[in-house]
Amino acid sequence: MTDQTQQVMAALSTVIEPELHRDIVSLNMVRDLTIQDGVARFTIVLTTPACPLKNVFLERCNAAVIGHVPGIEKLDIRWDAQVPTDRQIHGRLDVPMRSLIAVASGKGGVGKSTVSTNLAAALADAGARVGLIDGDILNPNIPTMTGLGFGRPKVVDGKMVPLEAYGIKVMSTGFLTSPDKPMILRGPMLHSAIRQLFTDVNWGQLDYMIVDLPPGTGDAPLSLAQSFPLTGAVIVTQPQDVAVSDALRSIAMFETLNVPTLGVVENMAGDFFGEGGGEKLAQQRGVPFLGRIPLDAEVRKGGDFGRPVVVTQPDTPAGQAFQKLAQTVAARVSVVMLHTADVIPLNIIG
Ligand SMILES: Nc1ncnc2c1ncn2[C@@H]1O[C@H](COP(=O)(O)OP(=O)(O)OP(=O)(O)O)[C@@H](O)[C@H]1O
Ligand SMILES: [Mg+2]
Repeated sequence: MTDQTQQVMAALSTVIEPELHRDIVSLNMVRDLTIQDGVARFTIVLTTPACPLKNVFLERCNAAVIGHVPGIEKLDIRWDAQVPTDRQIHGRLDVPMRSLIAVASGKGGVGKSTVSTNLAAALADAGARVGLIDGDILNPNIPTMTGLGFGRPKVVDGKMVPLEAYGIKVMSTGFLTSPDKPMILRGPMLHSAIRQLFTDVNWGQLDYMIVDLPPGTGDAPLSLAQSFPLTGAVIVTQPQDVAVSDALRSIAMFETLNVPTLGVVENMAGDFFGEGGGEKLAQQRGVPFLGRIPLDAEVRKGGDFGRPVVVTQPDTPAGQAFQKLAQTVAARVSVVMLHTADVIPLNIIG
């Protein structure tokens, strides 16, 4: 390194990543620095493609370098993203995924499948490699919500190929059974069915694997949360008191299992169910509030017709709320992964 590149790196090491609260040089986010004719050119590798903070980085880097390193007049920053790998997943599950996010609720019908689908679609739209597993083995809704209702996965080299919609790789027992022949599975069978959705499918490399859980804290969600190395759980609730008290139980279940709660989403907020219950719950439990999705008939229609609002109507309040949710969840995943590492290695990203 020349003197000047060393000086630029030193200046950049005062720039703090706003979510991770560490400097971008020790996080190994600054790559390929070159200097020519007073222009410092480098790449910032973000921890998620769904990062809304590029402008913040831009401002902070400029403020740190320009006027502080002699001879540098301009920065030329390129962007890249690499989701860090949750090291718990390594060795425990033979699926090349970097993070595993469960979407859960204490009460049925609060919008887990809707949130899972829109979250997955928004992350895929941002450029992430996303898988979506329908963990509701007995009552799978993901096929309808992704518009893949009549799909049948092919088998290649002994593994199923996931179906794809909106850039998401999707797998559900709904693809393997017919609606008039419901699955009757209990205990170990149920467990092995869930496991097969991970292991008997050729997922390819994924940044985010999202699992839509069945409601409650019964057998199926418990077995899933126990047997898979979850990076964290997104808890969905409606704003009203009954739903909130059920959500509390769901948070408690993940706490018992040592799975970090990524935060609480309040869904179907508005005149009918009111507003604020989810946020209050998050405050009480000391977990992050991830956002509020309005009650909106278009969200329901989007689910019924397999057209997630976040992609088909991104500019509506609901579409925007889901996009923002995806960014917040992605940021939380990065934070949780970097904090759960026993010792934060310098090169954890990449
Ligand atoms: N924000 C919203 N506005 C309007 N309708 C919504 C919203 N979120 C979800 N819905 C609708 O509410 C119903 C229940 O949603 P969903 O199936 O996602 O809930 P769930 O928690 O997965 O249910 P289950 O517990 O049965 O798995 C669906 O018809 C869905 O389209
Ligand atoms: Mg559901």
